[in-house]
Amino acid sequence: MNDLSAWPGEVLEKIQAAQRPLILSGAGMSAESGIPTFRDALTGHWARYRPEELATPEAFAQHPRRVWNWYEERRRAIRATRPNVGHHALAALERRWPTLVIVTQNVDGFHQLAGSSSVIELHGNIQRSVCSITGERLSDEQLLASDQKPPPSPYAREGLARPDVVWFGEALPAAALERALSLASRCDLLLAIGTSGVVQPAASLPLLARDAGALFLELNPEATALSPHAQHVVRSTAAVALPALVERLAA
Ligand code: APR
Repeated sequence: MNDLSAWPGEVLEKIQAAQRPLILSGAGMSAESGIPTFRDALTGHWARYRPEELATPEAFAQHPRRVWNWYEERRRAIRATRPNVGHHALAALERRWPTLVIVTQNVDGFHQLAGSSSVIELHGNIQRSVCSITGERLSDEQLLASDQKPPPSPYAREGLARPDVVWFGEALPAAALERALSLASRCDLLLAIGTSGVVQPAASLPLLARDAGALFLELNPEATALSPHAQHVVRSTAAVALPALVERLAA
């Protein structure tokens, strides 16, 4: 059920007045699609590994097959589910605000699948694969051309296919980060959805926006590292509160 009371009148008025709204989304955005968060994904067979044993360049160099297989399983889990009503509500907000941009830490591609067109992927996309040496993108045909796991890269002799995601210790894609920082410093509303606010540099975006004069709102069922800095906090979930926001704005 939509929680209309999550958005009190005075907050709604400020949202309505926004001209350059920015969304920062994290793993909680896709929780109601049934996608386990990064750490939740280490279940079953994978429970004996720590994230650093699977999501680092060192882990891939030492155990490429193990890392590849874990990502294959995560890819399958994502393909088996769909964007939720929260993603669709954000796509509806973009129709109302053509200037709305979503900066996401998620690698599932669900914002785009739900119809949002202005999405900046800070941590890459799990469905894409690139050469581990040159960074060039591999097509599905190139990936299927070999039974080897991970498939060899056609771009470099020692290269392997790897997921196009940012691993611990790696730099974020420069253009995406630059754009996100620039938008955060110029937006007039930043809504952080479903992020714990502990992974940098994404976590600095709301503070950058607030310090530059934007209204900073948080949507999260639980308190986070960002909560003390928010001007208003909505303690609800993405799939409940975002359709409610769309409904209230339309009323
Ligand atoms: N709706 C909204 N928020 C939710 C929901 C929900 N249904 N369910 C959980 N949350 C919140 C949790 O309370 C938590 O604050 O989502 C947040 C998820 O936090 P993290 O798992 O730390 O996700 P995130 O902030 O996106 O992590 C950042 O860390 O693991 C790396 O690279 C990975 O992009 C990821 C980054």
